[in-house]
Amino acid sequence: MTGAHLVNGLIEDHEHIEEALSLLMKAVDLLSKDKISPDVIEELATFLSKFADQCHHGKEELILFPLMEKKGVPVWGGPIGVMLCEHGMGRYFLRNLLRALKQYKEGQKDVINEIVDYAESYYRLLLEHIDKENNVLFPMAQEVVGENEGIEEAERIEAEMNHEEMLRKLDEIKKTIELFNA
Ligand SMILES: [Fe+2]
Repeated sequence: MTGAHLVNGLIEDHEHIEEALSLLMKAVDLLSKDKISPDVIEELATFLSKFADQCHHGKEELILFPLMEKKGVPVWGGPIGVMLCEHGMGRYFLRNLLRALKQYKEGQKDVINEIVDYAESYYRLLLEHIDKENNVLFPMAQEVVGENEGIEEAERIEAEMNHEEMLRKLDEIKKTIELFNA
């Protein structure tokens, strides 16, 4: 692809992540009313772990941020450091959401409060995080990172992670939630 900028693909990823986040909130609300299987939320959290945490944050941490660093944007004390810290917080919320879901499925129904709290914390963190990247970090990246830089590496990560298949899965989960919500 010529004339493409690395951040364009990342902005597109953000739209899918935002969709998954609102589905997560809807599904957790249904679970708290006992109206959906916890499996659906587990599938969504697994999608977010693969698509957002491993694939998308992988592209940022292994390609975009190092490229910006090479052009003189410091990691410490600047927006890259903040983004890295928030990726870590997101991983913490998501891992604990998955842990609580496992306990719920094993019969510990009282962990529903933890499921709701971790899902909400993750949702709020990621929405704010995406907003900061779209409006602060990415415009900065567009200034210092040239067109086509890092695109090949990003495509390699997407192929390894089966990007298209993950998006098909999200669509499937969305249809399932619509059925439960009917
Ligand atoms: Fe991002």
